[in-house]
Amino acid sequence: MPATACARANVALVKYWGKRPGPLNLPAVGSLSLTLAGLEATASVGPRAAGAPAFMSAGQAVEGTAARRMEAFLERLREFAPGAPPLAVEVGIGFPVGAGLASSAAIFCATAAAGLSALGLSRDRRELSRLARQGSGSAARSVFGGLVEWHRGRRPDGEDSFAEPLAGGDNWPLAMAVAVIEHGPKAIPSRDAMEHVAQTSPFFEAWIAGQDADLAAARQAVGAHDLTALGTIAEQNCLRMHATCFAARPPVMYWRPGSLAVIDEIRRLRAEGVAAWFTMDAGPQVKALCLENDLEVIATRLATVPGVQAVLRARSGAGVEMIEGAPPWS
Ligand code: DP6
Repeated sequence: MPATACARANVALVKYWGKRPGPLNLPAVGSLSLTLAGLEATASVGPRAAGAPAFMSAGQAVEGTAARRMEAFLERLREFAPGAPPLAVEVGIGFPVGAGLASSAAIFCATAAAGLSALGLSRDRRELSRLARQGSGSAARSVFGGLVEWHRGRRPDGEDSFAEPLAGGDNWPLAMAVAVIEHGPKAIPSRDAMEHVAQTSPFFEAWIAGQDADLAAARQAVGAHDLTALGTIAEQNCLRMHATCFAARPPVMYWRPGSLAVIDEIRRLRAEGVAAWFTMDAGPQVKALCLENDLEVIATRLATVPGVQAVLRARSGAGVEMIEGAPPWS
């Protein structure tokens, strides 16, 4: 005690959307993502002083649902070290929070690593991924760098639902330009949206049924370093996910006019011969998947699109790292 870890956000190319029942945050589908450099969160975990908040972010106590969720997660970590004092976490985030940039993935992944280290525990990265999953599903993927697959798993105890680096994902200089359309918090958090969609969208079953084929095609594209194939799957998968949202009752609409304008621009770039493919998560931001070498050209163009507030440039990034304290993994 205390310990600090740093983890990066990841963006799914084949989305996690839907859960199995139960308290372990088990996904209804497998997913595949790219971890991004620069979009970082740090988490420092140590003993909680009497009367002090359990969750601080940028020097302020976090309240409400987010605080309760983090407290439950810190308690979950403490179960592994009977007799350990209550824990507190202070996080620092280097990118817009709550706007569809999966900050929860970086936060819970960094908290899981720092928490285990602070408790003097040692767990391999696969176990760390299972644990991070229980804070936020997408956090399971931020344990690893580059292209990552999170296995759905079948077991009710979640032992087979963890992430790992994807075969063939190394040495492929991928990047993403993130067109920020709105800085504010998203209308509906992804957790609530996926639950509502699962319960009310007539397209939800079709979404689940199509996922294994998308995952298989994406895995193959990664193995072959075929960006056209991977980008095409990513676009189709994103549109299928958002179709479930549009068809929910009432509908969930993350798209803003600026989102559509950016998608049009990405398609225009492609028609001009620039290799770029779009994806969107639970927010209006649009991410363009590309090669590092094309990142600047694409980011510069997206910045000219009406409705775009800023464009973040992110290369493929590393998995979770310790900044202070012993790594819990060997
Ligand atoms: C649309 O990981 O935020 O970004 O497990 O409830 O915390 P919880 O959900 P979360 O959902 C991410 C959904 C997504 C798609 C993805 O990242 O795969």
